[in-house]
Amino acid sequence: MSGLEDVKHVIPVLSGKGGVGKSTVTAALAVALWSMGYRVGVLDIDLTGPSVPGIFGMADSHVHAAPDGWVPVFVDREQRLGLMSLGFLLGSKADAVIWRGPKKTAMIKQFIEDVIWGDLDVLLVDTPPGTSDEHISMAENLVAARVDGAVVVTTPQAVSLLDVRKELDFCKKVDLPVLGIVENMSGYVCPHCADCTNIFSTGGGEALAKEYNLHFLARLPIEPELTKILDSGNVARMLDEPDQCATLMRCATLQRAIGMCKTLGFEDRSGRHGGLPESAAADTATTATTVTSNPTATATATEAT
Ligand SMILES: Nc1ncnc2c1ncn2[C@@H]1O[C@H](COP(=O)(O)OP(=O)(O)OP(=O)(O)O)[C@@H](O)[C@H]1O
Ligand SMILES: [Mg+2]
Repeated sequence: MSGLEDVKHVIPVLSGKGGVGKSTVTAALAVALWSMGYRVGVLDIDLTGPSVPGIFGMADSHVHAAPDGWVPVFVDREQRLGLMSLGFLLGSKADAVIWRGPKKTAMIKQFIEDVIWGDLDVLLVDTPPGTSDEHISMAENLVAARVDGAVVVTTPQAVSLLDVRKELDFCKKVDLPVLGIVENMSGYVCPHCADCTNIFSTGGGEALAKEYNLHFLARLPIEPELTKILDSGNVARMLDEPDQCATLMRCATLQRAIGMCKTLGFEDRSGRHGGLPESAAADTATTATTVTSNPTATATATEAT
């Protein structure tokens, strides 16, 4: 069945600003949930700069069109992590999409209504920066279909925080609930001495969350190892290889993404579903405590270390 009928939770990842790590946070949440045993989908509605296929190392894949709709591209052998992105529909990675508003709006609607996600626990939606046409149609369509709420990403700099305020205002105007705020690029952890340097200062996201009475979900450091992995296009391969998967899951960003998911109420089901290879599961027994089995209902703020 296409559309969101059998999707239990829908969580868009937003920010008013470009380049703050929306796609990275979306991917980290997807891998975290997958490692916890869930069936996860990632819908990339960044029509002008779709980066999800590349992040997962699936840039050369193509979407299959079935009579009922589009079949997502699966990342892992078990087919518990599926992707849908305009990137899969373009002829070449270098192709530019120059569309006017109505065409973008129609494409987003089709992405939300015509993908055969099947039985999915969580659909994460990666969005473009700003409060553009794509945002408005995404918000309208998701609010009409069903959405739990948005995870809003910021970096600690004042300019990013200012744009995030606009995004929070946008969410309010379109009746899109906000599940919490993530502060990305919050300090740089030196791989040699493990010292954390606050390149862009820190704490702005947490202060913003307090001001808006929102949950502060996590503080994610700049992690060169993660960038290296994402740039290498190896994520898909790593998920299927226990040793490689353990290496991936040791990234601080993924550990904290697991903490975020638990804060949002997602319990670790990897034991039951055998999702995460054992060696990796041992590495990820970590961070925040489970809040509730009903994700997003009673999330509480976590200490983001
Ligand atoms: N915590 C992090 N540690 C290291 N690198 C990061 C981190 N977060 C993001 N990056 C890197 O920063 C760059 C921008 O991140 P990303 O593409 O996720 O941002 P975005 O908000 O989705 O951008 P856009 O607005 O263009 O869609 C990428 O190269 C990504 O690998
Ligand atoms: Mg992006």
